[in-house]
Amino acid sequence: MTLQKHLPIYIVIIISFASCYSPFQQDTLHDPGYDDGGKLKNVTIKQSNNVLGLNRLDDSNAAETVSVDCFGAKGDGSTDDSEAFEKAWEAACSSDGAVLVVPANKNYLLKPIRLSGPCKSDLTVQISGTLIASNDRSDYSKDSKYWLVFEDVQDLLVEGAGTIDGNGKIWWENSCKINKNHALTFQKSQNLTVRNLKIQNAQQMHVTFHGCTGVQVSGLKVTAPGDSPNTDGIHVTHTEDIQISSCNIGTGDDCISIVSGSKNVQASDITCGPGHGISIGSLGAGKSTAYVSGVTVNGAKLSGTTNGVRIKTWQGGSGNASNIKFLNIEMNNVTNPIIIDQNYCDKDEPCKQERSAVQIEDVVYQNITGTSASDVAVKLDCSKSYPCQRIVMQNVKLQKEGGEAVKVERNNVNVTDLGIITGNHQPEMSRAGLKSYLQILFIIGPLFLLF
Ligand SMILES: *[C@@H]1O[C@H](CO)[C@@H](O)[C@H](O)[C@H]1NC(C)=O
Ligand SMILES: *[C@@H]1O[C@H](CO)[C@@H](O)[C@H](O)[C@H]1NC(C)=O
Ligand SMILES: *[C@@H]1O[C@H](CO)[C@@H](O)[C@H](O)[C@H]1NC(C)=O
Ligand SMILES: *[C@@H]1O[C@H](CO)[C@@H](O)[C@H](O)[C@H]1NC(C)=O
Ligand SMILES: *[C@@H]1O[C@H](CO)[C@@H](O)[C@H](O)[C@H]1NC(C)=O
Ligand SMILES: *[C@@H]1O[C@H](CO)[C@@H](O)[C@H](O)[C@H]1NC(C)=O
Repeated sequence: MTLQKHLPIYIVIIISFASCYSPFQQDTLHDPGYDDGGKLKNVTIKQSNNVLGLNRLDDSNAAETVSVDCFGAKGDGSTDDSEAFEKAWEAACSSDGAVLVVPANKNYLLKPIRLSGPCKSDLTVQISGTLIASNDRSDYSKDSKYWLVFEDVQDLLVEGAGTIDGNGKIWWENSCKINKNHALTFQKSQNLTVRNLKIQNAQQMHVTFHGCTGVQVSGLKVTAPGDSPNTDGIHVTHTEDIQISSCNIGTGDDCISIVSGSKNVQASDITCGPGHGISIGSLGAGKSTAYVSGVTVNGAKLSGTTNGVRIKTWQGGSGNASNIKFLNIEMNNVTNPIIIDQNYCDKDEPCKQERSAVQIEDVVYQNITGTSASDVAVKLDCSKSYPCQRIVMQNVKLQKEGGEAVKVERNNVNVTDLGIITGNHQPEMSRAGLKSYLQILFIIGPLFLLF
């Protein structure tokens, strides 16, 4: 009993003496010596021959800790720590189940780096300190699209209370779509978990999942100024089976954007704003073929965003976006709360009329409430040649910020259910009045608005 009580202290002392291991004490959550209750399990401490900066706790689910500091990282905010990170990654990646640690209370300045697998075993990256991007643009010439990349890894967990800072101001000022620098990118990886990080001021997109399968994202706080260009919060492309939950995102572009090749995307408990809302697309740019299916956004609160839930496609594309659900969403002064835009065009001159389009079908909007900043709360602008099919709206209650009525605009939409309530909900409106108003909407709505 007394030994049990004193063992944690004993461990801390050992750790404190070995400078490279010091970060380890700051987060006992993933210390394999502790079970869920924080009690000490049967742990044997072995002095490792610390050639590579590895420390091994011998336990059934043992993990080695690899601190970037052991590879020469300074964390002073001005020394380039890129090489130290790459070396630390190599050591962690080639060991058995390592924890790569970025110590707290330090700022690690990094140029673009690419941390590639496959790794020998499961890997945890514990970010407690701050990673800050070099803002010398010449550092990016070699690999101008990305800053931090994790690729070709399986069973990777990236977490911690730390911050990833894209230091993006210089890119926003020189905003130019050709020179994209995604801040944090995961590509071609399976079974990824990314949680509890703060990601801010990305050069362009904050967190991108590209070509991944099996992804759990939770507890991210993503922030950038509302006027920073193309700074999407979470970008999902060619990724399957991804769950995004409990994230708070406020940036200058989409909070979440889901584009071609994405399948089975579930987002829940999302707080969004400022920004452009939650978006599927754009799809079909440059006459491309796009497929997106199985997207569910269940539980979101959007405040002051330019769009709420949006599907946007370019004319001339092909493919389809299907089986999409927007459920239980609260809008707070959102300019376009519900929008399908099949004539999306962000070029200076208007886009040409085209015959083909990405087919949009099976979209459910259910329990969407709150306020619209514009008169048009629901805008469904679908393709003439490929009308939207089977659009269902149930319990959609939107009114204008300030209480006035809002409009529904529709082109080329085949709505199968229109359980929509628009207009002002003045307390004096009687139940009967509301009911007949609804009946009128049900009857007149489809007749007037179908084409
Ligand atoms: C602790 O581990 C050792 C070696 O694995 C084992 O022999 C011993 O029985 C364990 N003790 C407890 C209390 O589990
Ligand atoms: C997924 O990765 C985690 C480590 O991040 C691992 O513990 C888990 O077993 C993996 N799951 C599968 C199905 O491979
Ligand atoms: C949508 O695209 C998928 C993938 O090619 C296809 O299997 C499906 O049949 C398409 N749906 C329609 C209605 O065309
Ligand atoms: C409707 O959505 C809100 C969140 O916007 C949620 O709090 C509420 O429980 C939902 N209502 C139903 C009936 O599911
Ligand atoms: C609502 O949004 C509009 C435009 O985005 C803004 O001008 C207005 O101040 C906002 N109103 C409130 C009450 O926040
Ligand atoms: C609308 O959808 C229904 C049910 O899927 C279908 O029978 C009908 O042909 C569609 N109408 C148009 C104009 O596409």
